[in-house]
Amino acid sequence: MLDKKVEDLKILFSEKEIENRTKELADEINKDFGCEKDLILICVLKGSSIFCCDLSKHLKMPVQMEFIRVSSYGNAKESSGHVQAMDLTLPNLENKNALIVEDIIDTGCTMKFLTELLCRTHKPQNLKVVTLLNKKIARKVPIEPDYYGFEIDDKFVVGYGLDYEGYFRNLPYVGYFEN
Ligand code: IMP
Ligand code: MG
Repeated sequence: MLDKKVEDLKILFSEKEIENRTKELADEINKDFGCEKDLILICVLKGSSIFCCDLSKHLKMPVQMEFIRVSSYGNAKESSGHVQAMDLTLPNLENKNALIVEDIIDTGCTMKFLTELLCRTHKPQNLKVVTLLNKKIARKVPIEPDYYGFEIDDKFVVGYGLDYEGYFRNLPYVGYFEN
């Protein structure tokens, strides 16, 4: 049974803060990629689903959305370090602009795996990474996103797509349990 209650969550980033920061990130992405060429958003399920959809609404270029699924966590709160590809079906990315959209970069193992794989097998012309949350302090492999919403401490957070045992993804804010 689920051992955490939504009432015990401390809010880290409110719905409004996330909305404002998402618009700022979209502005930066619009500026860097320009409005002419197509952009393929690669949404890493399930965690980045809400962020990716909200971000996409503010992008000005012609956008295609693709969804991939990887797993590194299972139900534990600690990353296993072992990344499992569940579904990496993607269209041809050659000569395309692509942007991987993540909810959080923690150890960095998932993002390292994804960027290396995509560069090797799909050869996009330009591949960048945006993540809503950046847990820099928890990094185990050297990888940095091109864009991030907020840097956070080494806390386990939920909400706005991020889950604990499959729950709390639907919350409109990001929060953490104090213990
Ligand atoms: P990494 O491979 O350790 O960087 O972990 C990346 C994935 O682990 C993220 O895409 C999330 O799905 C999950 N994850 C990492 N930290 C958290 C957290 O604080 N809350 C919920 N999920 C997390
Ligand atoms: Mg994720």
